[in-house]
Amino acid sequence: MNKINIIESYRSSKVFVPDNMIRWIRSNHAGETGAVWIYIGARCVFWNKSIRNMAKEHFITEKKHLIVMSHILPSSKRSKLLILWRILGFSLGFISALFGYRFFCITIQSVENFVEKHYQEQIDFLFNNSLSFDLLQVLQICCNEEIEHQLEAKKNKGLQLNNTYENLWSCIIGKGSSLAVNISRFI
Ligand SMILES: [Fe+2]
Ligand SMILES: [Fe+2]
Repeated sequence: MNKINIIESYRSSKVFVPDNMIRWIRSNHAGETGAVWIYIGARCVFWNKSIRNMAKEHFITEKKHLIVMSHILPSSKRSKLLILWRILGFSLGFISALFGYRFFCITIQSVENFVEKHYQEQIDFLFNNSLSFDLLQVLQICCNEEIEHQLEAKKNKGLQLNNTYENLWSCIIGKGSSLAVNISRFI
């Protein structure tokens, strides 16, 4: 299914969002906004062909995720800090791309590792409580695509083991993403 068909299939279906999922979907919308801007930032490092290609491809998926989240979350429920998530996403993408392809892949792997857990938590909640199967399916598709990004970044960063600085960077990304999600759940 191409990207337009997927968006159309979401548009034609009425995805029911239970009240107790609104905060989660708000954080998804904020996160997908940040993800789109990570790749806008990375694409500024246009002289690195590998980064440019990965950013171009991942941008399309993240844009699609953002359209889907925008479709299921009313404007009034969105994070009030979208400008901040755009700035932080852009800065993260641009700065990590400046350090080269391997460093950029480590950043993407760390971000996607967090995002996978974030989506999985929601999928488990919906499944365990037998809530909105439509929403569960949407989140599962997004989650699978985030896992694809994660595996691609892991494969492309090369066989060399992460050094201490890279492990520290992954840890910072994980903690930073968690903080951003917790803030966007409320504001
Ligand atoms: Fe995404
Ligand atoms: Fe992603």
